[in-house]
Amino acid sequence: MIGGVIDRARCEVRNEYYLAATLADDRLIGFARLALGGVEAAKLGYAIHADHWGNGYASEAARSLVNFGFAELGLHRITAAIGPDSLASVAVAGKVGMEYEGRLRDHVFTNGGWRDSLLYSIINPRQATAL
Ligand SMILES: CC(C)(COP(=O)(O)OP(=O)(O)OC[C@H]1O[C@@H](n2cnc3c(N)ncnc32)[C@H](O)[C@@H]1OP(=O)(O)O)[C@@H](O)C(=O)NCCC(=O)NCCS
Repeated sequence: MIGGVIDRARCEVRNEYYLAATLADDRLIGFARLALGGVEAAKLGYAIHADHWGNGYASEAARSLVNFGFAELGLHRITAAIGPDSLASVAVAGKVGMEYEGRLRDHVFTNGGWRDSLLYSIINPRQATAL
């Protein structure tokens, strides 16, 4: 997986950005990912090794990547589609400032069945339109 990520990071036109979460000794314990798609938009994902949950690593990695996406990539909108049972993941989305948009029905086919997703999003605060 890491080899594939590094190869794709060398592409001239990039459609994804990974941020590695490492310990002080450089051990890789997780990642956050931005997958670009649509107009100035990207999907956010993250995972941390279970031995290191609850230390704020996912929130820190996700926040850094969201800031990078807005400040460096000029994105307008970042979304995260989260399994309804993934309460920690929902908490991370909230901690980076994402808001709940709605439920995507049968969004993902996994473990032999369809699963809904809860859609969260954040709009670039510098580009947000006042209502
Ligand atoms: C989701 C995940 C990345 C969180 O990683 P983490 O490093 O433990 O996350 P953080 O420590 O930054 O924050 C987790 C937050 O969730 C909260 N949380 C954890 N378990 C929870 C639960 N069962 N219910 C509600 N909140 C929960 C924590 O309290 C924490 O919030 P707090 O700092 O306000 O207390 C990790 O659980 C994981 O890798 N899960 C499997 C992969 C996954 O689901 N990825 C998401 C796909 S979008």
